Amino acid sequence: MPASGTLRLPPRIHFGFGVRAQLPRVIAEHGIRVFAVVDPMLASSPEFLAVLDGLDRSGLTVEVHTDVLPELPVDSLTESGAAAAAFAPDVVLGYGGGSALDAAKLVALLVAHSGVLSDYYGENRVPGPVLPIVAVPTTAGTGSEVTPVAVVSDPAQTMKIGISSPYLVPAAALVDPELTLGAPPSVTAFSGIDALVHGLESFTAADLPLDWSGDLPVFTGHNLFADRLALDAIRAIAPNLAGAVADGGDRDAREQIALGSLLAGMSFGPSGTHLSHALQYPIGALTKTPHGLGTGLMIPYVLQACVPVIPEKLAAIDAAMGGTETDTRIAAQDAVDRVADLCRTIGIPGSLAELGIERDQLPHIAELALRSKRLVDISPIGSDPALLLAILEAAYAGDRAMLAAPVR
Ligand SMILES: NC(=O)c1ccc[n+]([C@@H]2O[C@H](COP(=O)([O-])OP(=O)(O)OC[C@H]3O[C@@H](n4cnc5c(N)ncnc54)[C@H](O)[C@@H]3O)[C@@H](O)[C@H]2O)c1
Ligand SMILES: [Fe+2]
Repeated sequence: MPASGTLRLPPRIHFGFGVRAQLPRVIAEHGIRVFAVVDPMLASSPEFLAVLDGLDRSGLTVEVHTDVLPELPVDSLTESGAAAAAFAPDVVLGYGGGSALDAAKLVALLVAHSGVLSDYYGENRVPGPVLPIVAVPTTAGTGSEVTPVAVVSDPAQTMKIGISSPYLVPAAALVDPELTLGAPPSVTAFSGIDALVHGLESFTAADLPLDWSGDLPVFTGHNLFADRLALDAIRAIAPNLAGAVADGGDRDAREQIALGSLLAGMSFGPSGTHLSHALQYPIGALTKTPHGLGTGLMIPYVLQACVPVIPEKLAAIDAAMGGTETDTRIAAQDAVDRVADLCRTIGIPGSLAELGIERDQLPHIAELALRSKRLVDISPIGSDPALLLAILEAAYAGDRAMLAAPVR
């Protein structure tokens, strides 16, 4: 298929130690009333208090909202949206991990369009621009600061559900690695491996037949821009993640995974991710485990199933991770082994059995994963229920050899 590409990104992205000092200027471009959705753990941190002081001294009126609950229950967001509407902000600031950033996006949506969030579940259902969102991540990370999606949990749904729309792409992203220095090892590991999975799944996304004369899907599949960004993301994250987990004060490692997370978000925002994400939704719902733990657990098995189908792409990933093997099939297997080694090193569980999942739950997990159509449509190996079940069986047993005969 001929190359094509789509990018939908914030008009402003700043990256680097100290870039948060730009925040008053960036926010002031959008107005003076600021509704700040802040991770509750960070609201009293010296870094955030300094940010607040800077906004205050710039004449901005800020309301700080810290009701960001784990897993983003939809009712809590309805309340956050009402609090924001009462304040009548010009702009919404999101400050925190992916949960706070997603909450900020959804508050900006509710203030602009009212209604209830279930009106917007799925793809392309947001009817127009939302309030400008300025996103400042403190994990590296989800990439939510640059992506068109936010994920909530709703008791009426079996698993977390996404709201995806180009209108949810923030107006500005300020990625300051300094803010990630305090993240504990487990947060660093789970959010960091998720960022790597974003790069890996964006780079391996399938070609979608796009109708350029019609409405485009939010996630456009294989994408020539995303390819380049994804490989750079992998190059930045893979050699540095274990170091950042082992020593949270390693500024160089923190810088590189923050950069990689941003690049991965820029990559998967337009392209989408696929099977590790589709499978994580039901696994996360059943086991109450973090998003990155689930995507990190599944990725070696998903990639293993990809070896016979897209060896060239996996070989390119191997090279991005530092491999020098020139035989494509061996290099493809090396890439999967490298990803699995990294997961093991940073403490990602190696099997679904370790999470307490029972073997007889696997067909149900496969069936639920298939409901995430936007994700399974981008799978490079199809989404045959038998294939998903085979991936799950291998992940349950913690044995990648069940998916393919090892090359050597
Ligand atoms: N919108 C997207 O594109 C996208 C992509 C992937 C995941 N997500 C969503 O993002 C969420 C996960 O985000 P996450 O992995 O960033 O975790 P998170 O935001 O849920 O934060 C995890 C924990 O880390 C703490 N924390 C965050 N930053 C910290 C810091 N600098 N120092 C100390 N503690 C800190 C938080 O208080 C929280 O307890 C999930 O809800 C997931 O569904 C969104
Ligand atoms: Fe993710």
